[in-house]
Amino acid sequence: MTIEARAEEGLLALLESRRSAGGGLIGEPGPNEGQLRRLLTIAARAPDHGVLEPWRFIVIEGDARAQASEKLAECYLAENAAMEPGKLQKFAAIMARVFTSSPVVVIVVSRTDGTAKIPVFEQELSAGAVCMNLLTAAHAMGFAANWVTGFAASSPRARKVLGAAEDEKIAGVIFIGTAKEKPADRKRPDVDAITTRWRNL
Ligand SMILES: Cc1cc2nc3c(=O)[nH]c(=O)nc-3n(C[C@H](O)[C@H](O)[C@H](O)COP(=O)(O)O)c2cc1C
Repeated sequence: MTIEARAEEGLLALLESRRSAGGGLIGEPGPNEGQLRRLLTIAARAPDHGVLEPWRFIVIEGDARAQASEKLAECYLAENAAMEPGKLQKFAAIMARVFTSSPVVVIVVSRTDGTAKIPVFEQELSAGAVCMNLLTAAHAMGFAANWVTGFAASSPRARKVLGAAEDEKIAGVIFIGTAKEKPADRKRPDVDAITTRWRNL
């Protein structure tokens, strides 16, 4: 096998082994400043129809993680005042430490331009591609990562405290760190079942 063929095999094996690390599986260390910059630079190489850059990053790290989590919990309490108090306190407590569970959190903000020739849908797809690039790059760098949305993305109040403008959406909250244990793989799609070949009937 040539060096090139081996490198290609290695890259494919890397893609085949990527797995999200959810549920408290991410720990220290996270990427350092240089590594994070490289990860974000790779993420921003996502396909971008019309070169609109319809996305941006908000990084939450260090003490900001606890502060942002507290703000999110406040939003949650304000928005769910009608919830049964025990349940509300339980969820708010989870929210109050949500970003502290991993060393680095990157919010991928989708900022579309409705006046552009490129459909908004395509601009939003590009933000999804940024998230995916970030997950793949983190994996290639030896880190574990997880892409979630949840309350942070669905609540306008939460989006605001996290720094998104009113006309922006949150495409992904990406947790990055080191896997505490290797996550087991999940069931993967049967590619034959989801693939057809177009025929001229
Ligand atoms: C846009 C988007 C939002 C997601 N939001 C959540 C979420 O809020 N909570 C969650 O548990 N999983 C969420 N997921 C799923 C996980 O990120 C992950 O994809 C899933 O656990 C499957 O793992 P895998 O990446 O190894 O295939 C989301 C996935 C996508 C694409």
